[in-house]
Order: sequence, then C-alpha cells, then structure tokens
Amino acid sequence: MSLPMKSSAASPFGPQAPLQPLLSREQIAGRVRELGEQISRDYAGESVLLIGILKGAAIFLSDLARALSVDATFDFMAVSSYGRGHKSSGLVRLIKDLDESIEGCNVIVVEDILDTGLTLSYLRALLLERRPRNLRIAVLLDKPSRRLTPLEADYIGFSIDDQFVVGYGLDYAEHYRNLPDICILSEAAPDAGPKGH
Ligand code: IMP
Ligand code: MG
Repeated sequence: MSLPMKSSAASPFGPQAPLQPLLSREQIAGRVRELGEQISRDYAGESVLLIGILKGAAIFLSDLARALSVDATFDFMAVSSYGRGHKSSGLVRLIKDLDESIEGCNVIVVEDILDTGLTLSYLRALLLERRPRNLRIAVLLDKPSRRLTPLEADYIGFSIDDQFVVGYGLDYAEHYRNLPDICILSEAAPDAGPKGH
C-alpha cells in the first residue's frame, strides 16, 4: 500500500498531506519482534502486565503482546496533557485509570513515544505508589533530544531525531493513527488545546 503523500482529493488525509516515510511497516514489525523476544527472555517463566497508554500505544501494544512468548495480561490508562499542538506542557491529567490493582505485578508500561518525558514521569510516579513488583517502560519511539526530565525507557524500538511523526498509533489532532507506516509530518497545523495521547 502506498502512503497518502501528496495524495488525491479522495484521501481522508487531504489533497496535500505533507507526509514523508520514516519507518516502514516491515521495519516496525521486525523491531517489535526483537523487543518481544528481549522481553520474553527478561521475564522467562513469569507473567507480565502490559499497561497501554491510550490511544497512541494501542497498536504497538497489540503487536508487542503477540510477539511475547510469556504470559501477558493487559490494562489501559488514558491521559491528556495540556499542550500547544505539537508540544507537551507537562500538565498531565488522568482520564482513565486502570481496572485492576497492580500490586505485586511485573508491570511494563507501553507507550508510543517518549518525547519530553513529562507524561511517563508522571505515570511512573503514580504507578510506583501502587507497589508493583517491578515497573519497566517500553516505547516504540524515543526522541532523546527533546527530554525535559531525565527518564529513560527500558525497551526502545527506535531513537529518532526531533521530528513530529504520525502513524502506527501516533496522531496529529487524532488523525493518521491508522497509517501502517510511521511518517514525518513536515508541516505544523495551528496549535490546538488539550491533546489526548
Ligand atoms: P511527553 O510527555 O512529551 O513525553 O509526550 C508524550 C506524548 O506526546 C506521546 O504519548 C504522544 O501522544 C505525544 N507526542 C510526542 N511526540 C509526538 C510525535 O512526534 N507525534 C505524535 N505524538 C507525539
Ligand atoms: Mg501517546
């Protein structure tokens, strides 16, 4: 399938969607498989609880879960950060909490992208208060140059430059999440209000 770049007027992404391919679905699938193998080795003989951060991580979580050979359960949280379009402000608000206790669990927080680190720092502190057995972080993408708070993920799909990307769960104003490839969105749209993840 070709990407909707400079696509026809029939495209749901608009006639001039400014998308440049960055990571193909094949590259993503290969790396997700490797992460699944790594996590399965690290938790051999144990169970893991994957906590997906809605909505961006939904696609990554569903592929990562199927790349695991260890027992896995899922739960989800949703947060919103008040930011300006592409930027996080650091004010994170919990919109949906977990369904179950995580006490004593091997928790892996699954997120689409680690950018400033503000969202995951907030979530990490919140979840650690609930006394999991351990807590690790898996992100498909990392933008280390954007970090405002010192936070590293334990499992990282790809480190990328400071570019705004969409696809494979990542959105701009809720669009593009369903692109199978990850693309750079080269033109910024006007700043928006509160953004979901
Ligand atoms: P952080 O708190 O700045 O680390 O923000 C993480 C959240 O910002 C992610 O979960 C995404 O929702 C969003 N985000 C950061 N960078 C991008 C990007 O390049 N594309 C799409 N969303 C992004
Ligand atoms: Mg997100």
